[in-house]
Amino acid sequence: MSLTRRIAVLPGDGIGPEVTREAIRVLEAVAAARGLHFELQWRNVGGAAVAESGEPLPKATLDLCLASDAVFMGAVGLSATDRVKPEQRPERALLILRRELQTYANLRPVRHTPALDDATPLRPEIAAGTDFMIVRELAGGLYYGQPRGISGDPGSRRAVDTLEYGEAEIERVVRFAFEIAKTRRGHLTSVDKANVLQTSVLWREVVDRLAPEYPDVRVEHLYVDNCAMRLVTRPSSFDVIVTENTFGDILSDEGSVLTGSLGMLPSASIGKGVALYEPVHGSAPDIAGRGIANPIASVLTVGMMLRYSFGLHEEADAIDQAVERVLARGLRTADLARRGTASVSTVAMGDAILAELELVLAGTATTAGERVAR
Ligand code: IPM
Ligand code: MG
Repeated sequence: MSLTRRIAVLPGDGIGPEVTREAIRVLEAVAAARGLHFELQWRNVGGAAVAESGEPLPKATLDLCLASDAVFMGAVGLSATDRVKPEQRPERALLILRRELQTYANLRPVRHTPALDDATPLRPEIAAGTDFMIVRELAGGLYYGQPRGISGDPGSRRAVDTLEYGEAEIERVVRFAFEIAKTRRGHLTSVDKANVLQTSVLWREVVDRLAPEYPDVRVEHLYVDNCAMRLVTRPSSFDVIVTENTFGDILSDEGSVLTGSLGMLPSASIGKGVALYEPVHGSAPDIAGRGIANPIASVLTVGMMLRYSFGLHEEADAIDQAVERVLARGLRTADLARRGTASVSTVAMGDAILAELELVLAGTATTAGERVAR
């Protein structure tokens, strides 16, 4: 296949550029081994773009993204001590991109691997068998609701955010989750706060209305507080979780550490237009530039891009396997290493993944198509 796929690469801030570099090496290795052609356009976003042009997402960059086949992002965000105007916050770049690309389903797969038993904060017998997909609504809720803002005089100011969902908005993401559940173990957990919030009452009604259309999927409703608890007491009881934007943001950080570290979790944001790919972790300014960040989330995010935007399941499986093998060999970046044990640099982890990937790609075709929606 000599089809050219155009990818906008947005490394962003903090550790974003370091991990993105390793991820793109992996993408290029896949391209070389399989005779694929990816045309990469690198642009600054977030704080890096503000420094360059005064805006977190310049219009030309947004236009480039809209005209690409996929957008691959590193991370955006400044350190807690940096003060900027709201319209110059690096996170704006991400929120505008999600909105403009019309992504509404954010997929965050959480899988525990026995190789990382020593890294997860849970006892191994509790973490064992953890393998679920969070489907987070990404285009609505508190993140975008109007009105929002702070008004009044100092001392008596008031702030408002709006949590609003339309039925159609709920339906499209819930359908997406049902479809994924069909390709997995057929169990959908819808997470809400229907004992308190009206948006959740409507959410639950939509899930129940759609359920009969998916007879192979077992539906369960769970309050978000209960879900937060069950994630650490019985994580293996989940298959697919679907939930609104803010709940999904919080639960996915919690879910990520079940794998051993936030540095392990990839994500794909899918919707009506171009899909956006980014690791779940942020820019981690405290460790930026030291060459110690874990590139695995970003590398696995390349796998998700190959799988969901380009239908390259075999190549995506190969990346997952290469990462698994490296972990099984005991290689650890600092976030995964037990205190007092050795850890490797970002680049060394990238090198090791590349070496394994070459072996897997040379010997594969074996696992193709086995696991489609992870
Ligand atoms: C995430 C992040 C973002 C979010 C931030 C950086 C705006 O936490 O992708 O989970 O809240 O969605
Ligand atoms: Mg988050």
